[in-house]
Formats: sequence, structure tokens, C-alpha cells
Amino acid sequence: MKLAMIAAVAENNAIGINNKLPWYLPGDLRYFKAVTMGKPIIMGRKTFDSLRKPLPGRTNIVITRDREYQREGISVVYSLDEAISLAEDVALINGCEELMIIGGEQIYREALPKAERLYLTRVHRSFDGDAFFPELDPAEWQETLREDLVVDDEDALAYSYLVLDRSA
Ligand SMILES: NC(=O)c1ccc[n+]([C@@H]2O[C@H](COP(=O)([O-])OP(=O)(O)OC[C@H]3O[C@@H](n4cnc5c(N)ncnc54)[C@H](OP(=O)(O)O)[C@@H]3O)[C@@H](O)[C@H]2O)c1
Repeated sequence: MKLAMIAAVAENNAIGINNKLPWYLPGDLRYFKAVTMGKPIIMGRKTFDSLRKPLPGRTNIVITRDREYQREGISVVYSLDEAISLAEDVALINGCEELMIIGGEQIYREALPKAERLYLTRVHRSFDGDAFFPELDPAEWQETLREDLVVDDEDALAYSYLVLDRSA
């Protein structure tokens, strides 16, 4: 079973501002849905707040330090290790091969050393942000897939889908 992270990241590594995405990219939202569907998804409490409701078709695991925190349709845990352990149980039952870390900054930073695969949407522009993806060490990651998206009317921004696997 692989621990994977999925993120859309600007040229300056911005991933969010005011607890929202800095851009609206419908194509990338569809890609996110396709990659995560059926898999357990792990997120920080702030990212869950920004979604407002659980993402359907996926076990939503939310990490918080607040022992009172409860929302309908999610599993609440109190550490990344607890999240991973629950996600492994769910993946085993559902027969899926990946556990997905879906953000935000705090959770990406903590999970990066444990991650084996990164699904990165590289948005080819810098954005104002208050949340950033951690800097990657190129020696640790190998690009195994790349798809460059041409700018179209729907998305109006150039971006690329990258899959990076941890180097052996
Ligand atoms: N571009 C993308 O792909 C993408 C994806 C996801 C999110 N985002 C953006 O990222 C931003 C949110 O990131 P963020 O870093 O502010 O928040 P976050 O990582 O989503 O959530 C942070 C919260 O998670 C909990 N937490 C973090 N580490 C913990 C630990 N070790 N143990 C227990 N609980 C822990 C705490 O919750 P409590 O405060 O409840 O204790 C903390 O406040 C937003 O702007 C969002 O839109 C972007």
C-alpha cells in the first residue's frame, strides 16, 4: 500500500489563500476526483472546513487536536499516524492500493517524509498565498509521468499533471 499526496501547486509553491484555493481550475478538480475516488483521503481540519462537507465515494479522515470536533460523514483522528493507520484499515477492506493525503500545508509538511508518490498539478503562474507546498529535494523524487495541459477557455491557465515517485 502506498502513501500518496495530491496537491495543486503554483510556481511559487502557493497552494491556498484565506483557506481557499487561489484559482478555479475545473479540469484539475475533475482530475482530483478521478485520482482520489474510492480511496481513503486524509486532510487537516482547516482543509475540511474549506470543503464544508465530506467528499463522496471516499472515506474522509480529518486530523485535529480538538477532542470535541465532530462532523457528519467524517472520521476524526488526532495525529497523522492515527490517520494513516485508519486509512490502511479502510484500504485493506476496500481493496485499494493508495492512501491519499489531500492537504493542507501543515499536513503536507508532516506527511512528506513518509510519502512515496506525489500527484502534483503544477500551475504555471505565481499566486498570492498564505499556505505553501513544501520544497522538494529533486534528488529524492523521480518524475514518472507528465502531461502538459494547453490553456483552454475553461481553465484559462496553463498547468501540468506530474506524478513523482520516491527515488530508490
Ligand atoms: N492546492 C491544493 O492542492 C490544496 C489542497 C488542500 C488544501 N489547500 C489549501 O491549504 C490551506 C490549508 O492549509 P493549512 O496548513 O492552513 O491547514 P491544514 O493542514 O488543512 O489543517 C491544519 C489543522 O490540522 C490539524 N493538525 C495539523 N497537524 C496536526 C497534528 N500533528 N496533530 C493533530 N492535528 C493536527 C489542526 O487542526 P485544529 O486546529 O482543529 O487542531 C490544524 O489547525 C487552505 O488555503 C486550503 O485551501 C490547498
